[in-house]
Amino acid sequence: MLEKLSKWKSSLSSQEIKDELDQANIPKHIAIIMDGNGRWAKNKGLPRIAGHREGMKVVNKVVHKANDLGVEVLTLYAFSTENWKRPKTEVEYLMKLPERFLNNELPKLMKENVKVRLMGSIEELPDHTKKAVMKAVKETENNTGLILNFALNYGSRFELMDAIRKIAKQVELGSLTSEELNESILEKNMMTAELRDPDLLIRTSGEIRLSNFMLWQVAYSEFWFTDVLWPDFNEKHLTEAIAVYQKRARRYGGV
Ligand code: FPP
Repeated sequence: MLEKLSKWKSSLSSQEIKDELDQANIPKHIAIIMDGNGRWAKNKGLPRIAGHREGMKVVNKVVHKANDLGVEVLTLYAFSTENWKRPKTEVEYLMKLPERFLNNELPKLMKENVKVRLMGSIEELPDHTKKAVMKAVKETENNTGLILNFALNYGSRFELMDAIRKIAKQVELGSLTSEELNESILEKNMMTAELRDPDLLIRTSGEIRLSNFMLWQVAYSEFWFTDVLWPDFNEKHLTEAIAVYQKRARRYGGV
């Protein structure tokens, strides 16, 4: 049935699909695992970094579309704690992308009231990357529109370990007892502290896994997987994912 819906939707334009959307049921938080840049480049006989460069252009399109649709938080998995294992040149290139993106897009993000936010181990990023993202976070801190949450040097297991360590310290210092510990306290110590959980998780490129992404936060998220490689992803795919999301019945374990 969903396959049928997907085929039908793919024959419609982005605006037509948007018109189909229930404006009262737009997912408030969308998280995306942007995958397939390398394969996209390989298919075209290009170096992997060409896929990442193209992927950056898609980030731009998706941010503006999400904002336009009224999404409140858009989390993008831009670099994982495991991505350091890639060749040095590729890592260096990936570390230049936030800077390049923000240098070009910051004025537009400001104009559109977008608030840039980060989650991940920022200290380990190269100075130039850190500087660019911190500047964007600072400049957009009072904006009240879409929260653009970049997951940079992010890993869910690291995040959980880090939160547990912080809580253990509080118990050690006597400001918290193990009996008082609950989900809300754990969440307050995580990198998503003031964000709601994702309503919709999207992964491109045909891979059906979470790859250490927001393991705690996606407990009740709806998942949408597509074979489309990230550099080919566009506004129409985003609206299609939302249309499918709107057909789902979210029961959170109830009936
Ligand atoms: C996964 O594809 C993608 C990444 C590890 C990097 C994602 C980064 C971008 C889309 C650009 C980020 C832009 C900004 C503004 C931060 P892959 O390389 O693993 O693809 P493959 O599985 O086909 O090899």
